[in-house]
Amino acid sequence: MEGCHHQSSRLLMMGILFLAVIFPSSSSPTTRRFQFNVQWKKVTRLCHTKPLLTVNGKYPGPTIAVHEGDNVEVKVTNLIATNTTIHWHGIRQLRTGWADGPAYVTQCPIRGGQSYTYKFSVVDHRGTLLWHAHYSWQRVSVYGAFIIYPRMPYPFKAPIQDEVPIIFGEWWNDDAEEVEREMMRTGDGPKISEAYTINGMPGPLYPCSNKDTFIQNVVPGKTYLLRIINAALNAELFFAIANHTLTVVEIDGLYTKPFTTTAIMIAPGQTTNVLLTADQVPDSSAMFPMAANNYVTSIFPFDNSTTMGFLRYKTITNPRAKPLNRPAVYSLSSLYNLPQMKDTAFATGFSSKLRSLASAQYPCNVPKTIDKRIVTTISLNLQDCPANQTCKGYNGKRFFASMNNQSFIRPFESILECHYKNLTNHLFSSDFPEKPPTTFDYTGVNPFTSNMNTQFGTKLLVVPYGSSLEIVMQGTSFLSVENHPIHFHGHNFFIVGRGFGNFDVNKDPQNYNLVDPPERNTVAVPTGGWAAIRFKADNPGVWFIHCHLEEHTSWGLAMGLVVQNGPNPSQCLLPPPADLPSC
Ligand code: C2O
Ligand code: CU
Repeated sequence: MEGCHHQSSRLLMMGILFLAVIFPSSSSPTTRRFQFNVQWKKVTRLCHTKPLLTVNGKYPGPTIAVHEGDNVEVKVTNLIATNTTIHWHGIRQLRTGWADGPAYVTQCPIRGGQSYTYKFSVVDHRGTLLWHAHYSWQRVSVYGAFIIYPRMPYPFKAPIQDEVPIIFGEWWNDDAEEVEREMMRTGDGPKISEAYTINGMPGPLYPCSNKDTFIQNVVPGKTYLLRIINAALNAELFFAIANHTLTVVEIDGLYTKPFTTTAIMIAPGQTTNVLLTADQVPDSSAMFPMAANNYVTSIFPFDNSTTMGFLRYKTITNPRAKPLNRPAVYSLSSLYNLPQMKDTAFATGFSSKLRSLASAQYPCNVPKTIDKRIVTTISLNLQDCPANQTCKGYNGKRFFASMNNQSFIRPFESILECHYKNLTNHLFSSDFPEKPPTTFDYTGVNPFTSNMNTQFGTKLLVVPYGSSLEIVMQGTSFLSVENHPIHFHGHNFFIVGRGFGNFDVNKDPQNYNLVDPPERNTVAVPTGGWAAIRFKADNPGVWFIHCHLEEHTSWGLAMGLVVQNGPNPSQCLLPPPADLPSC
């Protein structure tokens, strides 16, 4: 490993000299610098004022907009008393895992009063992503859009009048880190949120929220690119705009074959770019509601409220339509485009329309053959209550979650740092099980009587550089079947297959899409079903894989993937930056 990074920096230097000779300075990449101050800010929503954790006092946080090929440097200064980290969700961090952000996986947290500069580049990357805090439940309010403008023109033809971020969030009147502490203390599910938000605004269906309503002005006949981001903590969402259709053109920062739809399903951690043409004839209000609510698959209590915003047409009779100034009564029936909250058929149909562009310019590099197939359950668990404690989960027990019955514990050290320094560490081991520890009717067992106690630890899956992997994620019916949005750090992947019930290794691979499967960083694994993904593990480092429902990550639905260095210096993890925080 020592030789690895020494060589690599020497080679990097030689490369830079070489490039400088061939391409004089004009073609050297631009470095874009940002300053993020993590700080409290008093914010009022739903008649409730509280200190909210923010970046630079903004809620949602500032948009990062860069160009494909740029170097990015974000100096994060922690102005609060507790720890923090920031994650650039969907940025692969090629060889720069130090800048990835998940606390205790790729770095020790940034302590109060300290700073850390995240340095990475956005090579061969474009589109809409997001950034968010990756410590405890801080991402409830510490999030924002991460936009990479492409070098090449968009592959879709329509002239774009304007680009509009639509970021969904979730609001608790209580402090969200306290909500997490409480659920971990009692073993019960978390307190549900009070509201969903569009760009930080709950909208007129909540108390005192008329003035906190997102309104987007549109010019009739023009086409807009909506950059839709689900930054909610615990909710998969449906989104629709009354009377309008949406044309999906990109997911998770990757172009798709365009298709039109009346609504989208978007899981936490996912992003979706859609084209919207203002092609309707408005009534005298000039307003069309847009709304999002929960796509519900679990039996746990959930926030069944609806966040609403508006498209406001600029028309001749109404050149500058006024903001809402009266309690608006919008019946949900005016939102006929929004699916019912339990409409799994809609969610499934929507997902099955997603396809990679797979063009000459944007090829689909799905591995046709694999070196290894890993099958892992993704599961909730009902755990026996430890002696001398009371547990408030179902039946006096407590809730956890797991992959292959392992609940992932983040140690109070940086796994990446230990890996880089080659420390053999009693805190973690390289033996993540490559198949479920016991075979059973995963999605068919009785949810309450067939549960399993999970095991706790920090077991990592270690693979050689360049391995072509298939990972089959198998839901279970323990406690509740549920749609789990599984997010991978460090790599994008192709969703080659999905289905309901149990994955059948003899049958299902025959039906894989190896031509134009959707590529993304977060897959919504169907409720009571499975999803198979493939990718080439070509980014050396330690990568967090987890459910992007924050409650499930807290319960341990996560694992760590270690991709070893390759033989060439350009296939090695770079050395850690000098200002990397220590634990
Ligand atoms: Cu957006 Cu590890 O997460
Ligand atoms: Cu989950």
